[in-house]
Amino acid sequence: MSIRTLDDLLAEGVAGRRVLVRADLNVPLDKQTGAISDDGRIRAVLPTIGALVEAGAKVVVCSHLGRPKGAPDPQFSLGPVAGRLGELLGAPVHFATDTVGDSAHSTVAGLADGQVALLENLRFNAGETSKDEAERGAFADQLAAFGDAYVDDAFGAVHRKHASVYDVPARLPHVAGRLVLREVEVLSKLTGDPERPYVVVLGGSKVSDKLAVIEALLPTVDRLLIGGGMCFTFLKAQGLEVGTSLLEKDMVETCGNLLERSGGKIMLPVDVVVADAFAPDATHDTVRVDGIPSHRLGLDIGPETVAGFAAALSQAKTIFWNGPMGVFEMPAFAAGTRGIAEAITKADAFSVVGGGDSAAAVRALGLDESSFGHISTGGGASLEYLEGKALPGIAALEN
Ligand code: 3PG
Ligand code: MG
Repeated sequence: MSIRTLDDLLAEGVAGRRVLVRADLNVPLDKQTGAISDDGRIRAVLPTIGALVEAGAKVVVCSHLGRPKGAPDPQFSLGPVAGRLGELLGAPVHFATDTVGDSAHSTVAGLADGQVALLENLRFNAGETSKDEAERGAFADQLAAFGDAYVDDAFGAVHRKHASVYDVPARLPHVAGRLVLREVEVLSKLTGDPERPYVVVLGGSKVSDKLAVIEALLPTVDRLLIGGGMCFTFLKAQGLEVGTSLLEKDMVETCGNLLERSGGKIMLPVDVVVADAFAPDATHDTVRVDGIPSHRLGLDIGPETVAGFAAALSQAKTIFWNGPMGVFEMPAFAAGTRGIAEAITKADAFSVVGGGDSAAAVRALGLDESSFGHISTGGGASLEYLEGKALPGIAALEN
């Protein structure tokens, strides 16, 4: 890989230089209180920011949070993230209340060597995500003005062709940060020559998000275990009734084709937990997949499925897991995700957890992060990497 790294930049010396760091500080926020519910992505970028601080750089951090529509929207402010980043760094983070406006300019101008600034949400500006090259380029010019060099440490966003990810590195000397390097190193083990059996567990709600990765993985994996909301479209494709469970009707045929072509590699649930409503206190029962009542919806995989999946995982030498098995945020529907996570930690395998949600699930369920080989900060990014797609953020660093 012809990518320059943070160590190359540090070797040149960064004392007194302004270094623009693209981070992925897109952390989940509590729906009620707005508090940061999982700070894993903030902690993941500390090694890069810490090294730059240590070396006396003026560190200008930028990120997106959520999906605001190209204009300021207070619920997506990075303000709380600045506070948490400061706590973790043990030094205040100077927060700019806009991204490229007066506040950003004065905040960056006021930085002393070794200090850190965080700009307001990149997506408060239409230019960040614009499909129009010129509009994106104009915003990238404004951002690039804050740095003498650029570090990409936003692994979770490398699959986005956005100004801060794709266009800024074309304007500044650019290197990959520690997190991006580590993620690429680990994921390339999975696309290279993984030790077998290689077992992949996919969950989450939408099949349509995962189709491309399923297609790409089928020839490579030994087993593909499917749970989560998306399993119901596969069950439907097998001719089963799924009640009021999540169903992507226009995907049923595609799922049927995948099952046919999978050569028996795909394992689906044999039992599920069904409930009367999508609510934490809903009445619920475990049923066989051929006995889902028409008025109930499946919110987790059942214990027999967990046992079957766990047996497959216990044989594995390499494991990739993306997507929760059920609505793990509700204790009544968390057993499936917990069971699979525990089976992964018990397996004598190199295991990678991909995805914001699965990584958050690991921490929310109180599991020991260190018992996994690697917990990726990228959801879509890790899936697209495994699909073998060219990632705009990585391509931009290669040039
Ligand atoms: C993510 O959470 O997947 C990344 O931060 C990218 O966010 P996005 O899907 O809104 O582009
Ligand atoms: Mg995403």
